[in-house]
Amino acid sequence: MSYKVGYFVGSLSSTSVNRVLSKALINVAPDDLEFTEIPMGDLPLYSPDYDADYPEVARALKDAIDASDAVLFVTPEYNRSIPGALKNAIDWASRPWGQNSFHHVPTAVIGASIGVIGTAVAQQNLRSVMAFCNARQMTAPEAYIHYTSEVFLDDGTITKPDTEQFLRGFMQEFRDHVERVLTVLPRS
Ligand code: FNR
Repeated sequence: MSYKVGYFVGSLSSTSVNRVLSKALINVAPDDLEFTEIPMGDLPLYSPDYDADYPEVARALKDAIDASDAVLFVTPEYNRSIPGALKNAIDWASRPWGQNSFHHVPTAVIGASIGVIGTAVAQQNLRSVMAFCNARQMTAPEAYIHYTSEVFLDDGTITKPDTEQFLRGFMQEFRDHVERVLTVLPRS
């Protein structure tokens, strides 16, 4: 038995430190998690005008979430909140009304910043959004990652043993959270 994890990198930057973090998380994750990135960069800005006929790129987004057992958000903080591109993707996935793709989906949030608060405020914002979307969120552990290129190498290697151990534990907890949620609320 393995679990399919769709993950969002909440940055469109070609040099995203959160993409590096996503590689590091995959490196230390339990073997029974399979990861697929859910792209969001080509989505137009959401409008209810699309609800009657979603464009292909938005259907693909919802299909990718539907095909996932769980969703992981790896996000930067922009101006003490969620990057607009990520919020836009969530808005698309949450609609049309009655077809919210996050309903009962096990989720977790993590993020890296070059600043010392490590995306804490963005993550709290994102937790509020996902609460409204009725996702089954992992509440602990929290993980506010202060990124440095000495600790996180571009290939996802983590050079600091304490950090590697912490992130390994985070991913193990996420795996256990996914298993618990799906035991009660299996994905159809
Ligand atoms: C930032 N950055 C930032 N950092 C932070 O800790 N809190 C913040 O509120 C913000 N705000 C912010 C706004 C905007 C528009 C940008 C472009 C940047 C800095 C941010 O942490 C840094 O650029 C990271 O490298 C962003 O993550 P990615 O895109 O590299 O994954």
